[in-house]
Amino acid sequence: MSTDRIQIFDTTLRDGEQVPGCKLNQAEKLTIARQLEALGVDVIEAGFPASSPGDFAAVRAIAAQTREATVCGLTRAVEHDIRTAAEALRGAARPRLHTGIGTSALHLNFKLHLSPDQALERAVAAVRLAKSFVEDVEFYAEDAGRTDNEYLARVCEAVLKAGATVLNIPDTTGYCLPQEYGAKIKYLADNVRGIERATLSTHCHNDLGLATANSIAGVMNGARQIECTLNGVGERAGNTALEEVVMILRQHPYLGLDTGINARLLAETSALVSHLMCMPVQANKAIVGANAFAHSSGIHQDGIIKHRETYEIINPHDVGVADSSIVLTARSGRAALAYRLQKIGYDLEKPALNAAYASFLQLADRQREVVNEDLHRLMEEVKVLA
Ligand code: KIV
Ligand code: ZN
Repeated sequence: MSTDRIQIFDTTLRDGEQVPGCKLNQAEKLTIARQLEALGVDVIEAGFPASSPGDFAAVRAIAAQTREATVCGLTRAVEHDIRTAAEALRGAARPRLHTGIGTSALHLNFKLHLSPDQALERAVAAVRLAKSFVEDVEFYAEDAGRTDNEYLARVCEAVLKAGATVLNIPDTTGYCLPQEYGAKIKYLADNVRGIERATLSTHCHNDLGLATANSIAGVMNGARQIECTLNGVGERAGNTALEEVVMILRQHPYLGLDTGINARLLAETSALVSHLMCMPVQANKAIVGANAFAHSSGIHQDGIIKHRETYEIINPHDVGVADSSIVLTARSGRAALAYRLQKIGYDLEKPALNAAYASFLQLADRQREVVNEDLHRLMEEVKVLA
């Protein structure tokens, strides 16, 4: 079976950086952009150049530094935004302008005060202007998740004719169910004339915790680009987590979809973004959380010690994590205690292990975790008693 390549469009520096508290300075943005290129992302959305002089300068510096990945700048369907972003991207080896407008009835009626036809005209004019600067123009239909599919298809067809190379279908408010979002992508793939000339892209927010599931539904129904961020940072509840979609496709090869990401750099890239954005990663975060490869219950620890795959679907080395860990708590069993004691130099016969385990449980009931220093002390005590 052949494997289709899914493009990874990273928007950590745009959708992620606009989050309160995640602001980065230019040097930090350049560091992250360098790491994203090493990670193998296809597109780096470097910022929104018209939003501030600082963002303009950062996009310009990232464009100058980046040679392999496409560098993208966001705009509204506004002439000044497009001209400013084109100027910021002038030094890029592979520039992309990302322009768009709201398409849902809510956006047309309450935000833009435009009729559907007027919004469509603005969209076409924006794409035409962007196309006069760069070949690669991505169009986003903001709030596509809540946009009527027939109108959305009409807009997509018109911007395609105007020269758009990528059609971004954002679930801006994280509203859609996976089946619904997948059906939307399929509807566009089946009904937009000329769609074979463009790439359909997902951009899913996480308001209902469905961003990753929706992105995967999107690529299973014809999208070939996923927009995402490291650690899922992004507006409100966040965006699709890059590490999750990459590993889902890798863990399910029968889907026939894969990315060009070097997954062994996922852990260090996640840590870098978390550190520079001052945004801690929750311990139980999939793939990159501190507990993603930690085992604490006796039943699981026994299984992991006998055969890692009993409780792990990913080899931690594959995502750049040094090893799985066995955390000793009051829920741990003898097997885990014996395993850890052996690692730190105590090879115990059954009776000694039983004695050590009884003392261990008393200690573990008093504290959250039992660490190696505790075990050395405990072994001294057991020796004294013996
Ligand atoms: O969520 C969204 O709709 C966006 C667009 C600007 C692409 O971030
Ligand atoms: Zn977004």
